[in-house]
Amino acid sequence: MIIRPRRLRRTPEIRNLVRESSLSVNDLVQPLFVKNGKGIKEPIPSMPGQHHFSEDTLVGEVKELMGLGIRSIILFGLPEKKDSTGSSAFDDDEAVQRSVRAIKSKYPDMVVITDVCLCEYTDHGHCGIIENGSVHNDSTLEILAKTALSHVNAGADFVAPSDMMDGRVAAIRALLDSNGFYDSGIISYAVKYASAFYGPFRVAAESAPEFGDRRGYQMDPGNSAEAVKEALLDIKEGADMIIVKPALPYLDIISRVKEKCLLPVCAYHVSGEYSMIKAAEERGWVDGKRMMMESLLSIKRAGAKIIFTYFAKEAAETLNR
Ligand code: PBG
Repeated sequence: MIIRPRRLRRTPEIRNLVRESSLSVNDLVQPLFVKNGKGIKEPIPSMPGQHHFSEDTLVGEVKELMGLGIRSIILFGLPEKKDSTGSSAFDDDEAVQRSVRAIKSKYPDMVVITDVCLCEYTDHGHCGIIENGSVHNDSTLEILAKTALSHVNAGADFVAPSDMMDGRVAAIRALLDSNGFYDSGIISYAVKYASAFYGPFRVAAESAPEFGDRRGYQMDPGNSAEAVKEALLDIKEGADMIIVKPALPYLDIISRVKEKCLLPVCAYHVSGEYSMIKAAEERGWVDGKRMMMESLLSIKRAGAKIIFTYFAKEAAETLNR
């Protein structure tokens, strides 16, 4: 007798019935870039299909996302001015804070997450304050916490620190609690590798470092036990969810972290992963839509519950069909 697993693959209906992992619009978080100004919707050249918005056009985009069933977004801001300490990051009148207020006043049900980092706000492009030529971990914590506080004060549901300073989850949690924001959550980029896959984002966010690189504070791609350690530390400090980033080159890490942590694991399917598919699709080399869906499903299969992806809108269109 031949054992025939293929019987379970015979028709689309049977395949749908037995599929172990699936993708839903509830899993997707759309990243959005916001600038100061009015009426702005400028295409981002390094990320085809993505745009820089101003707060007014952003609200229009959020309306479209709501219509597609997407209920979560993460905001990145491009400030009016940069300085050595990234002080615009906690300015209540900056693009992110204004946009959160605008979105929440029209669409209070939209889950608004804000990225908390200094690299878009510092003139040197590093994620923290520079002392003696390198990023100083401890003096960066206060600014990060103040930034997080200004975001939740504007109405953000979750702040997502992506700077990779040690101790920032605890510092943020303490400041939010002492200001009464007990219910505002922290999604920590606990496991963030020093990756070449962030290239298109750094063009979009104008956040490439002016000197050196981020290997001093982001993780070494050769390490895996360290990922578990970082995740457990952030959970102990009070993180409500954790992010592994990038996604596809680190599916083993998603799976390992998921096994060790009793919190929802998020994966950040980053700019380079997005733009590679877009570029190959533009050349007619690949079926971009199928690659998109296969990539996102693989990230779910690895163990992520939530996927931050520039494909969120497009994937929702496909899922709704
Ligand atoms: C900010 C931040 C980055 C990303 C998310 N938050 C860039 C970086 O670390 O250089 C990358 C996102 C992407 O590539 O899509 N620190």
